[in-house]
This record gives sequence, C-alpha cells and structure tokens, in this order.
Amino acid sequence: MPRRRRIYEGKAKILFEGPEPGTLVQYFKDDASAFNRKKTGTITGKGVLNNRISEYLMVRLGEIGIPTHFVRRLNMREQLVREVEIIPIEVVVRNVAAGSMTKRFNLPEGTPLPRSIVEYYYKADELDDPLVSEEHITAFGWAAPQDIDDMLALALRINDFLGGLFLGVNLKLIDFKLEFGRLYEENGDMRVVLADEISPDSCRLWDLETDKKLDKDRFRHDMGDVEEAYQEVARRLGILPEGGPGDHKAPEMVQ
Ligand code: TMP
Repeated sequence: MPRRRRIYEGKAKILFEGPEPGTLVQYFKDDASAFNRKKTGTITGKGVLNNRISEYLMVRLGEIGIPTHFVRRLNMREQLVREVEIIPIEVVVRNVAAGSMTKRFNLPEGTPLPRSIVEYYYKADELDDPLVSEEHITAFGWAAPQDIDDMLALALRINDFLGGLFLGVNLKLIDFKLEFGRLYEENGDMRVVLADEISPDSCRLWDLETDKKLDKDRFRHDMGDVEEAYQEVARRLGILPEGGPGDHKAPEMVQ
C-alpha cells in the first residue's frame, strides 16, 4: 500500500487522506469486534465482502435519491468517499426485537415490533454508546433539531427500501445501524448524508424461511460459519467476487 496519511483507525476500517481535497479512502479490515471491543477477532475476507456489499447498497440508495458519502469503489478493500463531519450519533432502526432490545424490554428474540422503531445512541466508547433521546442530543449540542429531522427521515426511507431489497433475496432485515455526516459544499451549503457503511457488521439479517442468522451475531455469539454467512449475503445480492472473497491483484495494464 502506498504511504499516505492515516486520518482515523476504527475497529473495522481505516480512513486515509483521499486523492483530492474533500475526499477520503475508506479501507475495510478483516478485524471484528463486539461488545465494545470486549470480544475481538478476525473474519477472513470480511473486509473484501463488506466493501462490495456496502458499495452495492450505497449505490442502490443513491439511485432512489438518498444522499451518501460514497463516490466509488477503488479496489478489493477500498472505496473513495466524500469527507464529512461525522455526527456522533448511531441511528438504529428496528423491525423485529433482537440484541439489546430483547434485554431492555425482556422481549423474546424474533418478536415483530408493532412498527419500525428508531433509536439514537451517543457514540462514546468510554460510555459504551448509551441510548439517548432527542433532548440529550440537542441539549448537549451533538446535533441540531434539523439534523435529527433529516437523520430520522432518511433512516425511515432507508429502512423501507432496504427491507424490500433484502426481502427480494429471501432475507429479513431485523435491524441495522446508520451513521450520518455533515457534507459542506463549496458554496457553504451543508447537507446531512449517509456515511460509514451498511454491511452484515451493522445489520441483522435472517433467512426468510429458516431464521438462520447471516450477520455479525454469528461472531458475537460464537455460532460458527461466520465467513460463510457474509459470503451468503453477498451471493444473494449477486455480488460475490468471482473465485470467492480472497484478495486479487488488480490486472496489470498492458500497453
Ligand atoms: P443492538 O441490538 O446491539 O443495540 O444493535 C442494533 C443494531 O445495530 C444491530 O444490527 C447491530 C448494529 N450495531 C452496530 O452496527 N454497531 C454497534 O456498535 C452496535 C451496538 C450495534
């Protein structure tokens, strides 16, 4: 990898300075973590698959008018994105009870929710990303009321669209997490855009017929076949890289 300035390293991705001002290169690692890094490991090929899956979903969302930070995929593990100011809120949309919702309200996993529920979590590792209300978000200045309105409207449209898209490949979208950023245009205008990634790391996806989990819960709860689950999601979306998820050298230019 050529030397370039590393802007930020997270649990599953690294952000590098991009080729032009206002751009970043998002590199997808195979590293996996859960429960705020209390559990860590490697899912071989995950970075390659999440790069492809997130590209696919961001492009589809762009086609229906959802603004995103995604520009284009560069290679097996990297994509070019617009530089945004990340809003420190994780927006979670839930359709079926799973994960922390089952614990908080003592609901059996798999209980369909009366309607889609949107939750906000404050991004702060040292606090274990606490659940917060709009009041906390505006009072502490993490986002303005207009930012929250934009994030909520986008999250619900994304849920409707992705729910249908996954249903089309026999997957149930149980819940997912989104991150948004403020994109500043050259004329000084600001818009809230979808950022980060959408992948089996940040979604719960169950097989429509069997309820088999095809997402990071397999890693969180040592269920096995983790790599296969990510591959299966990519395969159903019709985007499994030929020859599997291993890294391929880019073809060399021949004059
Ligand atoms: P939860 O049930 O653990 O609150 O997670 C809800 C959804 O958000 C689930 O699809 C996993 C995703 N998620 C993340 O992507 N990152 C996180 O840090 C957390 C806590 C959840």
